[in-house]
Amino acid sequence: MEVIICPTPARVGEIGAAKIAQIAAGLRSDLVLGVATGSSPLATYAELARLVDAGALDVSNASAFALDEYVGIPVDHPLSYHDTIRRTVAEPLHMDLARVHVPDGSVEHLSTAGQRYEDAIRAAGGVDIQILGIGTNGHVGFNEPTSSLASRTRMKTLAPSTRADNARFFSSIDEVPHHCITQGLGTIMDARSVVLVATGASKAQAIAAVVEGPVTAMWPGSILQMHPHATIVVDEDAASALSLKDYYKKVYADLPDWQRLDV
Ligand code: F6R
Repeated sequence: MEVIICPTPARVGEIGAAKIAQIAAGLRSDLVLGVATGSSPLATYAELARLVDAGALDVSNASAFALDEYVGIPVDHPLSYHDTIRRTVAEPLHMDLARVHVPDGSVEHLSTAGQRYEDAIRAAGGVDIQILGIGTNGHVGFNEPTSSLASRTRMKTLAPSTRADNARFFSSIDEVPHHCITQGLGTIMDARSVVLVATGASKAQAIAAVVEGPVTAMWPGSILQMHPHATIVVDEDAASALSLKDYYKKVYADLPDWQRLDV
């Protein structure tokens, strides 16, 4: 697992985007991105949009698959992940909306939505670069603690702590849905590369669990230790509980120039 520790949250966005652009440079123009919602990747998306506008990155032929969606929120609701991904990813990056996919969280289609989403990812050739945030309880996607490490896209119940964390987007916690549809940990692990971004002290414990283990369903993101191409981009606060923090900095600083980004 590659750990990149940045001096500020803003730098996490810049380095996260630079890492994604670095991977994308070696891929075909019809690459497939996996995209997360939430606050963590917003600075990364803003920087990716800047790279697109500067002509340094072209995702006009790319596809995108979101990690998850709330159950029971209409797709045109501003807090739906359909609308959030359109607003924060697809439009700023000038992606073709027809190739931007979000799981179907409508109650009437829930029993088949997971399999349909898995089929759509497979039909697109699989995810090339999966962008992740992480919950304070270690969830990735909405794979809450004790999720199967081999899980596929399905309905999940949000943990009380996740509903409390996400209440900031709603007018009250009572409005936060109890259920979601999320890519499974097995689905996420199928991505060819993973770039996880996290900032702030509230993520420190989860980042320590993800990077320094053990691999356990109690900290679902820890499964990324089994991924051959996972990069974790964090600021000093999110890195603060890592016992080998100075070692990760030294390893990254000692990389050959062509491989290292300037943190
Ligand atoms: C979002 C998602 C979640 C978030 C996580 C962190 O699609 O799947 O795993 O990445 O809840 O959220 P923020 O970034 O808002 O702290």
